[in-house]
Amino acid sequence: AASSRIAQDLLAWYDAHGRTLPWRVAPGAAAGPDPYRVWLSEVMLQQTTVAAVKSYFAAFTARWPTVEALAAASEEDVMAAWAGLGYYARARNLLACAREVAARGGRFPDTEEGLRALPGLGAYTAAAVAAIAFGRRAVVVDANVERVVARLFAIDTPLPAARPLIREGADAVTPDERAGDFAQAMMDLGATICTPRAPRCLLCPLAASCAGRASGEPERLPVKAAK
Ligand code: ADE
Repeated sequence: AASSRIAQDLLAWYDAHGRTLPWRVAPGAAAGPDPYRVWLSEVMLQQTTVAAVKSYFAAFTARWPTVEALAAASEEDVMAAWAGLGYYARARNLLACAREVAARGGRFPDTEEGLRALPGLGAYTAAAVAAIAFGRRAVVVDANVERVVARLFAIDTPLPAARPLIREGADAVTPDERAGDFAQAMMDLGATICTPRAPRCLLCPLAASCAGRASGEPERLPVKAAK
């Protein structure tokens, strides 16, 4: 599909205002990001904030600079290094995954489907790694992206019933090119502009395209099911 107006506006904003994060490469860098670093960051970010992940990511990559190095670590060492990040099944799966990739010659599968078969990679993580590390067009939807899309299209079906609609909306705006940058731009927009309580619509590159903004109450979206 041709790149949508939304994708073009968002990517231009990302080039100027995207966050500089340790697992990203500079815009226009000669080489893409290292799949090991992308995978490690996405697993750490599954249930943990960017702010909390930064120091752990630095410590892990300093101690285990490659997937082979991590694969050779003991479970005790990995669990100890993970302490504080929580959700310890992630650390066990991390090591199992590193060992599986090391056994494959150190190369991560480069498709969403191949990545999905690795330990600890759910639909979100497989899509994120496929897009960010390998430039594959993948629909990457985390909670931030869910909010951005629900607002863009003013989807007022309550969650979780809205999820298939949100996915469709995300698919419709995802470009063929720069899929990884697009995914991370959506995350950055959700984290810094399209925030839950008081979205900064005046700074938003997508304001002109946003049905939630046009509704006058973007902060109402996404609607959560009544408990
Ligand atoms: N949350 C999950 N993955 C992320 C990424 N690559 N950049 C910023 N926030 C994220």
